[in-house]
Amino acid sequence: MANDDVAELKIGSKVYPLPIVAGTIGDEGLDIRKLRQDSGYITLDSGYGNTGACKSAITFIDGEKGILRYRGIPIEILAEKSTFVETSYLLIYGHLPNKAELSDFSNKLRYHSLIHEDMLHFYDGYPSTAHPMAILSSMVCSLSAYYPDSLDPKDPEQVDHLIPRVLSKLRTIAAYSYKKSIGQPVVYPRNSLRYCENFLHMMFAVPSEPYEVDPDIAAALNMLLILHADHEQNCSTSTVRLVGSSDANLFASIAAGICALWGPKHGGANQAVVEMLEEIQRNGGDVQKALALSKDKDSHFKLMGFGHRVYKNFDPRAKVIKAQCDTLLGKLKKADPLLDIARRLEEEALRDPYFADRKLYPNVDFYSGVLYRVLNIPINMYTVMFSLGRLPGWIAHWREMHLGGDERIGRPRQIYTGTVEAPYIPLMERR
Ligand code: ACO
Repeated sequence: MANDDVAELKIGSKVYPLPIVAGTIGDEGLDIRKLRQDSGYITLDSGYGNTGACKSAITFIDGEKGILRYRGIPIEILAEKSTFVETSYLLIYGHLPNKAELSDFSNKLRYHSLIHEDMLHFYDGYPSTAHPMAILSSMVCSLSAYYPDSLDPKDPEQVDHLIPRVLSKLRTIAAYSYKKSIGQPVVYPRNSLRYCENFLHMMFAVPSEPYEVDPDIAAALNMLLILHADHEQNCSTSTVRLVGSSDANLFASIAAGICALWGPKHGGANQAVVEMLEEIQRNGGDVQKALALSKDKDSHFKLMGFGHRVYKNFDPRAKVIKAQCDTLLGKLKKADPLLDIARRLEEEALRDPYFADRKLYPNVDFYSGVLYRVLNIPINMYTVMFSLGRLPGWIAHWREMHLGGDERIGRPRQIYTGTVEAPYIPLMERR
């Protein structure tokens, strides 16, 4: 080490200085941007497990200690005291809104809740079996067709114009896709309702009878969305940043994030967890069988909702959600056999050296699906709910990247392992 700010990399007899980049807290990094230019070497890190792609001031995670903070505020405090709308503002604009800012932001969310009436016809083109994530991603991308004059990511005014629109309309699109999937008429938003209440209203009201939003259900949803609102450079957020780095518009970038979230290794895990718990229930509740299968490398089965790239300790979000499951079921005087299976599975896994040695703990998805069940959210909507929650995080990162100034198009390198040079063989001569 030459000094505290620079590390040295020795390759053969040559020494290359690598500036050390330190954040306010947490990881320190080696700036390798000039390494290839100076030495001809690149770094190889499949899955980017050891690669910092950007500097960011939005969310801090200490995976070893199980800490998660948005703009410095612990997630547990936000889950208890904040609202999803306030937390969205915090993530996107960097500070808790004052009264005027919050009221202005909330009003904008309220008044942009409708989608263009023509978009309702889009739903008719999907088969009734379409997964709502397929509908959501394409509908969000289609929103760009309705705002051709506001798509410049470099114009802060245009970006501010779009932010409340995408936050409000994605919620409407999500609820409508559920209504369409069950053959009910869409229920228009009611702007006198708060953000989560309005979503529940669009999901569960029908034109033929009155519908009262249960305040406990709305509060639980509010908390769930806060807990999902950001998680720094995860797969979907990195996708949003990568797509956005080409100057693709906000809607296109968010649509790409939705697609990345869909996979069962990421946001799709909440649906996969409940399907796994149902399978265990059908098989008589034998959690050991599922554990054994997840440890068998030939099975390609993973214990869904367990393990995390960053957390090597309890995921703080899982703790809050588990407690909320107990509270809400108590309030509603309900029991859920799947929650009992989940608890047993967690207990057994935490006792098992396979999981302990690999530091595999329940992640956010382990109990969120169970809680969505309690909220009566249908299983194929779980990942849509995750998208709704993660939306402010995606927006915050996309905005930070464009305002940050040191943005370059995302373009990783590779180590080529293919044929060096091959002849072109005419078709008739090929075997
Ligand atoms: N069940 C069984 N074994 C597991 C699990 C699991 N859920 N997760 C990791 N492992 C094992 C791996 O097989 C590997 O074992 P090995 O060392 O013997 O080869 C070891 O633990 C390390 O795991 P990696 O695959 O290196 O962990 P990685 O960081 O690449 O993956 C991931 C993290 C994708 C979350 C993984 O743990 C997983 O697939 N979990 C189940 C799916 C899930 O719950 N996803 C949601 C994540 S949270 C979110 O995105 C919102």
